[in-house]
Amino acid sequence: MSIPSRVQIIDVGPRDGLQNEKSPVPAEVKIGLVQRLQEAGLHEIEVTSFVSPKWVPQMADNAEVMAGIERKAGVRYSVLTPNLQGYEAAVKTRPDEIVVFGSASEAFSRKNINCSIAESIERFAPVVEAALAAGIRVRGAMSCTVGCPYEGEVAPQQVAYLAGLMKGIGVQRVDVADTIGVGTPRTVQRAIEAALQHYGIDAVSGHFHDTYGQALSNTLAALELGVWNYQASVAGLGGCPYAKGATGNVATEDLVFMLRGMGIETGIDLDKLVDAGAYISDFLGRKPNSRTAVALLNKRAV
Ligand code: HMG
Ligand code: MG
Repeated sequence: MSIPSRVQIIDVGPRDGLQNEKSPVPAEVKIGLVQRLQEAGLHEIEVTSFVSPKWVPQMADNAEVMAGIERKAGVRYSVLTPNLQGYEAAVKTRPDEIVVFGSASEAFSRKNINCSIAESIERFAPVVEAALAAGIRVRGAMSCTVGCPYEGEVAPQQVAYLAGLMKGIGVQRVDVADTIGVGTPRTVQRAIEAALQHYGIDAVSGHFHDTYGQALSNTLAALELGVWNYQASVAGLGGCPYAKGATGNVATEDLVFMLRGMGIETGIDLDKLVDAGAYISDFLGRKPNSRTAVALLNKRAV
């Protein structure tokens, strides 16, 4: 398999990133971030999630954010929906794609969405059916495909099992997520190969958290398998500064810099992307968690 010549990135910063912030981020700032991401050329943005505000208070403004964004033609806006209640609230805000999210590990499934893997699929099935009937695309996030904070190592067979269940209920494409960033190139490749037992290469994406600094290496390993869809978080948003060891997805800036250097097209303007990352980082009162962004901002300053 040759390395893809083009990569499509979903920026998950507004959702995966900001869901972890301790201090509240106003809807208008989230809307401003989405605006800057689309100006930078992102074609897919994961905007928010329709989950319980008791579980994730940062996403309680989901409808307000969706109503406030200025839709740009050619951009796909996605939102997370764990159950029918979430879907029914989400559908009113006209998402282009909804995301059901399951886990390859039983323990994480229970901690994250309060049910077993099998129960989660039962909850997702009517959501997927309703979305497809309404002409809304459906993605499935698969957490803990390499390691789980509660169970340790996760076998590729678990990933294949979950991918098969997702396929069975009509999920159109899946994300192979390394939720806690413990994957290394070969373990991540095995997780991807497990997903590829049920989905074609165009329907599998990489979602790598960078907790152990492996996300770019893991991306390269996934590129070697032909994977050309990735999720990344502008300014490396995500993780909690108070939760030891937790960090966000690979920074979109770092990913774009690597891909550009490899001659792989993303359609993203790196300078404008750095502006987007600087905007949200300024609001949060810290530097972007992206080596590329910091390097480029330092260069601008001289
Ligand atoms: P539950 O408590 O089992 O739900 O939570 P329930 O059906 O028993 O309902 C209990 C209460 O929750 C009720 O309210 C419902 O109305 C409410 P009450 O009567 O007590 O006032 N409720 C909801 N409210 C708003 N929206 C909804 C909804 N559903 C029920 N959709 C539930 C189940 C899934 C809702 C809960 O566990 C939850 O919200 N979990 C949060 C999960 C989450 O957002 N995790 C982070 C995103 S996943 C992620 O980050 C991983 C990913 O990035 C990939 C990776 O890196 O691995 C995608
Ligand atoms: Mg994630």
